[in-house]
Amino acid sequence: MNLAGTGFEIRPAERPDAAEIAAVLRRSITELCGADHNNDPKRLASWLRNKTEETALGWIDGPGSVLVADSPENHPRLLGVGMGLPEGEIVLNYVDPGARYQGVSKALMRALECYFIKIGVTRVRLRSTFTAERFYRSMGYVQSDIPIDPADRASAIFEKDLHP
Ligand SMILES: CC(C)(COP(=O)(O)OP(=O)(O)OC[C@H]1O[C@@H](n2cnc3c(N)ncnc32)[C@H](O)[C@@H]1OP(=O)(O)O)[C@@H](O)C(=O)NCCC(=O)NCCS
Repeated sequence: MNLAGTGFEIRPAERPDAAEIAAVLRRSITELCGADHNNDPKRLASWLRNKTEETALGWIDGPGSVLVADSPENHPRLLGVGMGLPEGEIVLNYVDPGARYQGVSKALMRALECYFIKIGVTRVRLRSTFTAERFYRSMGYVQSDIPIDPADRASAIFEKDLHP
């Protein structure tokens, strides 16, 4: 998906992207999600534990759709990462701190929604961070549940019906 005027395109991730994907996730979580981890080293470490090149390779090779916002003019090139599972769950949506509020997450979410519609999924769910709750509401997601574990870093489950 080419987004004229935005300076980036949304495309499927490829194996050579894996290291950069992990780096974007780590920066986004560390720098933007302070409201969720409160800069608590233990919570942050547990959140970052699987954000590695190796894990990203597994995601890329797996059954889901891993999408990246790619800006050829930017160094490093990747501005954001999103991932959807075929059962209708969005499990990643992270923007690089340097590209915040430039439409990256919105573009990733729209592309993931297109992916779901293409594979026949019409109801999508995700676990939102505190950080992104307002964003998901503005994209039409509605809170459907509260976390079972109060210590869980994700604040709540959000869902949305997609209309093909
Ligand atoms: C909140 C966040 C998800 C928004 O994504 P983004 O790529 O920075 O922002 P986008 O430009 O795509 O999104 C636009 C929306 O963000 C919000 N937004 C935009 N500019 C904003 C600003 N200056 N201040 C606060 N919110 C703003 C609005 O809701 C806006 O929607 P609108 O354009 O309909 O008004 C992102 O900044 C963030 O903090 N990500 C951290 C990672 C995370 O928590 N991911 C979710 C995992 S479940």
